[in-house]
Amino acid sequence: MKVTIVGAGNVGASCAEYIAIKEVASKIVLLDIKKGFAEGKALDLMQTSTTLGFNTKIIGVTNDYAATSDSDVVVITSGIPRKPGMTREELISINAGIVKSVSENILKHSPKTIIVVVSNPMDTMTYLTLKATGISKNRVIGMGGALDSSRFKTYLSIALNRPANDIQGMVIGGHGDTTMIPLTRLASYNGAPVSQYLNQKELDKVISSTMVGGATLTKLLGTSAWYAPGASVTYLVDSILNDQRKMIPCSVLLQGEYDLDDICIGVPIIVGANGIEEIIDIKLNKLEQEKLEKSAKAVKNMNLSLQTII
Ligand code: NAI
Ligand code: 2OP
Repeated sequence: MKVTIVGAGNVGASCAEYIAIKEVASKIVLLDIKKGFAEGKALDLMQTSTTLGFNTKIIGVTNDYAATSDSDVVVITSGIPRKPGMTREELISINAGIVKSVSENILKHSPKTIIVVVSNPMDTMTYLTLKATGISKNRVIGMGGALDSSRFKTYLSIALNRPANDIQGMVIGGHGDTTMIPLTRLASYNGAPVSQYLNQKELDKVISSTMVGGATLTKLLGTSAWYAPGASVTYLVDSILNDQRKMIPCSVLLQGEYDLDDICIGVPIIVGANGIEEIIDIKLNKLEQEKLEKSAKAVKNMNLSLQTII
């Protein structure tokens, strides 16, 4: 199985590292626009294979889309971070230009590939990818909910003082500080509702830490995170390539599901060989549905900046 990762920066390289170490794919192509950058990252990573014991082959290329041909999955991490003085609209228009041209180039060489969108603002970039390419909706998946859920479970495990792997939980909605919705009602410690062990004040603290999870790391690191994003992409790609049919919250096109239409936003889906196998209705209560609709309004508002591009 072949995976292409566009953008060999922090997140792209982390995706390549985890996909290789876990041998999720047999071949990885790292592509970047910066001359020699992807080649350098690929060579460095390949030199870990003997000590770490993996057989995945990693190659790096500078904007050479022919090398990406017949990829089963393509992960798009190319884009720029927001710079001081830059408006959100300016950022969107720059990243939208990058994501649009990347997805078009990718499809010329891998017409059947499944595209995983990571570049921010991710829900808007996922919608753009779908609209700009016109490929079927099951083949475009935005990664954000897997990461936000992993942060949610981590903060729950800290609050509970229990191992993170014993915690189940999910974050839906937009991938943004004010748009994501950590679903505490459905979170559990080995099947028992977390509300049995945490009071509302403690749960509220977990919710707010989760919602600013990305911003907290950006403040600490001076740029956005990459380990957990790379691991979350790997989890998603593994479920596609190995048809694991895991339920993962992802940004996908909704056409009436959750009473929403013409928007890509995070909801739980079954991820398998065809990309999106099924959108799962987890029966939100009234308050959760209201939050999702509010989140969708904000994402749709952001999508308005795409009007001149698609
Ligand atoms: P980075 O700046 O380290 O890497 C971005 C790379 O993209 C650079 O190497 C750059 O040369 C490359 N690039 C730019 N234009 C390109 C083009 N047209 N073709 C090919 N490569 C191109 O940034 P980082 O930290 O890796 O983040 C990448 C993106 O992922 C950002 O938009 C970031 O906000 C987003 N992100 C999304 C997350 C999510 O959960 N959806 C989590 C973390 C980051
Ligand atoms: C994150 O959540 C900024 O999307 C990036 O870490």
